[in-house]
Amino acid sequence: MLIVVANNKGGQGKTLTATLLSRYLASNPENEGNILCCDLDHTQQNFKENMAESSIPVTTLVPVENAPLCIVDTPPSLNKEVIQVIKNADILIVPIILGKHSVQGVMRITEIRGKNDLRLVVNEWDASSIQKQSEEFLSEKGFKFFGKIPKYKRLAYNIDVGLDWYAGFTDPTIEKITDILNKLLKG
Ligand SMILES: Nc1ncnc2c1ncn2[C@@H]1O[C@H](COP(=O)(O)OP(=O)(O)OP(=O)(O)O)[C@@H](O)[C@H]1O
Ligand SMILES: [Mg+2]
Repeated sequence: MLIVVANNKGGQGKTLTATLLSRYLASNPENEGNILCCDLDHTQQNFKENMAESSIPVTTLVPVENAPLCIVDTPPSLNKEVIQVIKNADILIVPIILGKHSVQGVMRITEIRGKNDLRLVVNEWDASSIQKQSEEFLSEKGFKFFGKIPKYKRLAYNIDVGLDWYAGFTDPTIEKITDILNKLLKG
């Protein structure tokens, strides 16, 4: 099972989403020993760093066909190996902050995989002035949205300092975040 997080625009929350999904999946004992994280952002390696304290293995190589449950974080550039994992993805998650350039980043992903294969998730951490127009444009084009990640400074903080992602959140907020993650995974 190959889960790929991509957008051909930087700063959309790809790494945050990949990290959250990995930590969430790892909290299910059924997945023990089956999770592999893959950081294809060779320059930043933020995903690798985020997962360093966990017991989940991280590779920087393109995962092979029979990899276990594999979560791939990608750089904003569409290089050869990123194109390959986008093509091979069983689940293709595309975070978007709904600005002009992030919409263009999504459109370039559709040149590799059809729009019906994309699971768009709106990241509200940085509201754009044309958020509404972007949402309408994508809806008119037939894109489906799989939820919204609100701006949670605490989420970024927890990940940065190596706490559990849900540390300090109320139960309803934890539920809200896990609902989004489940929707992204189950479709
Ligand atoms: N919903 C959110 N709430 C709070 N902080 C967020 C949220 N989404 C992203 N951030 C923070 O914004 C920054 C950019 O997010 P992230 O690194 O996940 O983006 P990216 O798409 O991986 O960027 P790049 O293209 O550079 O790899 C990070 O510091 C992250 O922790
Ligand atoms: Mg990143």
